[in-house]
Amino acid sequence: MPPPGSMELPIGGADLWFAALDGPLRPPASDTSVLAPCELRRAQGMSVGPRRTFVGARARLRQLLAAYLPTSLGPLDLRRGVNGKPRLTGRLAHCGLHFNTSHSQARAIFAFSRSQVGVDIEALRPLPSALRLAERFFTPSEIAEVAKQRARGQPDTFLKIWTRKEAFVKAVGGSIPQDLGTFQVALEPRRGAALLDEDGRAIRGWTMLPLQPQGSIIGALAVRQTRVKLRRWLLA
Ligand SMILES: CC(C)(COP(=O)(O)OP(=O)(O)OC[C@H]1O[C@@H](n2cnc3c(N)ncnc32)[C@H](O)[C@@H]1OP(=O)(O)O)[C@@H](O)C(=O)NCCC(=O)NCCS
Repeated sequence: MPPPGSMELPIGGADLWFAALDGPLRPPASDTSVLAPCELRRAQGMSVGPRRTFVGARARLRQLLAAYLPTSLGPLDLRRGVNGKPRLTGRLAHCGLHFNTSHSQARAIFAFSRSQVGVDIEALRPLPSALRLAERFFTPSEIAEVAKQRARGQPDTFLKIWTRKEAFVKAVGGSIPQDLGTFQVALEPRRGAALLDEDGRAIRGWTMLPLQPQGSIIGALAVRQTRVKLRRWLLA
């Protein structure tokens, strides 16, 4: 874990940190001691598995935020903002650091950038109702993308589209599922247009990167920059 104040984001850069949360248990105090009282209360209301994931992910998020923020700006105050998107408050609210996180099956990913950023990971898994889920949440062109796969390929295609869509919604701090139908993603973008509006016009100024941080985990990163210099780390 990088020490407080030690990380600098290059201009045009985005940093990704991937962590396994099911390794040997760290002493509980080292995880829970960095959480705020409201986060501890939230954790207390969860069953064992989700609590362990939430505490592990939130503690690492706080430690990583501390690494990117100048220590002179005071204590790290993290609150739930619009639609539940975590945000920094006080003097830290205007420090220009954007971040987002996602967790799935005891794996977590953390993204940092100087512009809006959203990230999502999902474990690849059998989803017998992939096409029905697509019909419920996706736009017609995305549904067609899932439907053209053989049945056994449909879950992976669904999750590839889902993670791209969720990454974008999380970047703009939107709401799921309400905002999923307001734009579309292209798995094989023509002329770089990975994001399209409802009418099929390119949404410019964004980069969408597919991720596979581990064999069985896929995801996507959406950054409000036309080009991204990506750095990746693995957290022990
Ligand atoms: C966050 C949300 C948008 C997605 O949830 P998810 O896929 O279960 O969760 P992820 O692990 O990808 O992301 C969770 C993190 O995103 C962040 N987050 C929460 N709301 C957010 C929002 N509106 N915008 C951006 N980030 C948000 C938080 O850091 C959260 O972590 P925390 O729970 O530890 O605080 C959730 O509010 C939601 O609506 N989920 C519905 C998912 C669904 O319907 N899935 C079915 C098809 S697979």
